[in-house]
Amino acid sequence: MTPHAEVIGDPIAHSKSPLIHGFWLEKLGLAGEYRATHVKGDDLADFFVRRAHDPAWRGCNVTVPHKLAVLDQVPDPGDVRGMIGAANTVFRGEDGALIATNTDAAGFLSPIADLDLNGRPVVVVGAGGAARAVLFALARSGVGKVTILNRTPLKGAGLLAQFGLKGDALPLTAKLPAAALLVNTSVLGMTGHDPLDLDLSPLPDDAVVYDIVYAPLETPLLRAARARELEMVDGLEMLVGQAAVAFELFFGAPPPREHDEELRARLLA
Ligand code: ATR
Repeated sequence: MTPHAEVIGDPIAHSKSPLIHGFWLEKLGLAGEYRATHVKGDDLADFFVRRAHDPAWRGCNVTVPHKLAVLDQVPDPGDVRGMIGAANTVFRGEDGALIATNTDAAGFLSPIADLDLNGRPVVVVGAGGAARAVLFALARSGVGKVTILNRTPLKGAGLLAQFGLKGDALPLTAKLPAAALLVNTSVLGMTGHDPLDLDLSPLPDDAVVYDIVYAPLETPLLRAARARELEMVDGLEMLVGQAAVAFELFFGAPPPREHDEELRARLLA
C-alpha cells in the first residue's frame, strides 16, 4: 500500500500543505500521497482510531482548530503538552505508536539558522499560539533579553515566565528597543487585519525582520523593513521550514530543499 499522510483541519480547503508535500514527493520520485482532509472537532477521536489501524498511514499535520485537542488523541504528546501546549504534527514512532509533536519551532528557526542569537536581544510581537512555538525555539537558542509587544501585555509576561526568558512585556504602542531580530507572530498584517505599524528606526542595520504572516507575502512590516534595507524573512519560509521537518517524519527522507525557489513560485502562483 502506498504510504500516505495528510493535513486535517476545519476548514481545510485553503491549506498549502498538500502542494508542498506533493511537490517534494514528486521531486524525490517517492511513492507517497499527501492530501487535505476536512475533520470536524466531533470526528477527531474517530479519525485517529481509524487511521491508527491503517499501516500505510504515516501521520498528519494538524491545523486550526485541532492543535490543542489533538494532544488528547495520541498516547504520547511528548514534551509538546508542557512546553508549546499545541501540536501541529502526528507521526508514528519506531514501534508504530502515534506521537504528537510541533514542527513550528524548528520550522521557525530553519530560515535563520545562520543567525547567532546567543545572548542577543529579540523582539516578539504577539503572545498567542504561534508566539509560543517561537518563544520555545528562541529559549533553546539562548537568546538574551526578549521584549514581547502585545495588545494584552499580561499574556506576554506569562509567556516570558513560562519559557524562562528574561525581558519585558509591553503594549504594541511601546517604543521598539534595539534588537538583533524582530518577529511578528500576531495576526497584524494578515489580510483582513490591521497592519502592524512599528517605527523600525531603533533597529541596528544588521537586524533581521521576520514576519510569520504569509498572506499577503509582503506585509506592511516587511515593507518597512525593506525601506530600511534590513534583512527579511517572510512567512512562506517558515511554512516550508515546518513542513520540511514533518515530511521527514512522515516519509523518512529529508525533502529536496535545493528546489525551494521553484516551490516558492508554485506557492505564489
Ligand atoms: P495564533 O495561535 O495563530 O498565534 P492567537 O492565539 O489568536 O493566534 O493569537 C493572535 C495574536 O494576535 C495575539 O497576540 C493577539 O493579541 P492578544 O493576545 O491581545 O489577543 C493578536 N491580535 C489578534 N487580534 C488583534 C488586534 N485586533 N489587534 C492587536 N493584536 C491582535
